[in-house]
Amino acid sequence: MKSTRFVAAIALCPWLVAFIPANAADSAAGQKTFTASCAACHQLKSYAGKSDAELETELKGIMAGTVKHPKKLTLSASDIENVAAYISSSAPKN
Ligand code: HEC
Repeated sequence: MKSTRFVAAIALCPWLVAFIPANAADSAAGQKTFTASCAACHQLKSYAGKSDAELETELKGIMAGTVKHPKKLTLSASDIENVAAYISSSAPKN
């Protein structure tokens, strides 16, 4: 019995590990959001050198109305993380 449980626990490990990054920013999802909602007006290169954290702060400001933006954005908290991760990892470094 014990060894069966042990095998089951080992078998579950990759599954558990695969779920850990689900909480982290998902830059592939961010790319979809960027392409669908931002690319009409924005190019990645205009964000050159901006960090993930700076982008998140700006996006939260846009959502809150404290940073001017010509278009009202409707992004969830995870959309913001994902799109900031995508932009900061894909824009040229300067
Ligand atoms: C209708 C056109 C339009 C769309 C769509 C749009 N933006 Fe913008 N955005 C602008 C303009 C214009 C500015 C202010 C001028 C500028 O680029 O500095 C701006 C500013 C910003 C800023 C502030 C920093 C900066 O570059 O000046 C961020 C961050 C930003 N947009 C992110 C986004 C994201 C992310 C999306 C998609 C979810 C998006 N925008 C969609 C036109 C747009």
